[in-house]
Amino acid sequence: MQKAISTANGGTSDFVRALHDGLSEPQKNIPSRFFYDANGSLLFAEITTLEEYYPTLTELSILEQNADQIAADAGPNCLLVEFGSGSGFGSCKKTEILLDKLENVAGYVSIDISPTALLEAEQRRLERYPTLQVSAVVADFSRKLNLSGVAEGARRVGFFPGSTVGNLLSDEVVDLLSNFREILGQDSLLVVGLDLQKDHGTLLKAYDDSKGVTAAFNLNLLERANREAAANFDLSAFQHKAIYNSVMERIEMHLVSLRAQEVTVAGITFDFREGETIHTENSHKYTIEGFTALCLKAGWRVERIMTDPKRMFGVFALKIAG
Ligand code: AVJ
Repeated sequence: MQKAISTANGGTSDFVRALHDGLSEPQKNIPSRFFYDANGSLLFAEITTLEEYYPTLTELSILEQNADQIAADAGPNCLLVEFGSGSGFGSCKKTEILLDKLENVAGYVSIDISPTALLEAEQRRLERYPTLQVSAVVADFSRKLNLSGVAEGARRVGFFPGSTVGNLLSDEVVDLLSNFREILGQDSLLVVGLDLQKDHGTLLKAYDDSKGVTAAFNLNLLERANREAAANFDLSAFQHKAIYNSVMERIEMHLVSLRAQEVTVAGITFDFREGETIHTENSHKYTIEGFTALCLKAGWRVERIMTDPKRMFGVFALKIAG
């Protein structure tokens, strides 16, 4: 019997479509945005507490070290605009480091496609900053968005931490940064956190941790497909794998089929060869020069680069070029 496919949240049929499309391609794939159901979000939050997953803790320390400088670059009375809701451990703290240091902040706007993540973040902000003007916007920030009317006249300071840009291909990074420029408008500042290139051993450990949390995070995609997309993945027949692709300069996560098998997803059956993989995530790693070039293409110039002593991670403060 086939399970009903719920479309009530608008997400599930999108998931089924993405599974059908991705599993039909020569390199099977599932887009990484589907990691973050309730269980996946919890697992990701756990990843960010792991020492092997250095980006979160490193970015936090960079922000702490440089908060005064960022506040000076932002100037007084700015509107802080966070792309993503900033919910979850680490992410909340990053935003709070800025909110604690910005002078006389005119308001805080978070933009996210997930209303639940937004609500959670909004609640937490209001608890900590009872007098702050908090707005939550349910929207896809890779599309056009008009913020006029929100703290009109205040300089906008965009915040995009967590190396989330790493999921995108370079053309997509340029499109997204250009869109941020249009959303934020003249005279704005954009603060972007970015994971940097480093030895492959450190990178691989960050994406294949010894406690197996990242493996569980990756395999949760298949559990989610079983739960929400009438799939019958045998979880013991797939294994997490992280590789560094030196040509593309990125970590890739895959799920390896441990044997030849058939899997059915909402009525369509897919064949897997032994050793065949489902590509589930790209996490691009940049040099400072490489990312600076992408910023320029998107109409931003680099005002300041903040990094840790080992240059593991970079926080870029960008201003509109020209
Ligand atoms: C949330 C996309 C920045 O690429 O490091 C962490 C996601 N995947 N461990 C990253 C992730 C596996 C993370 N980003």
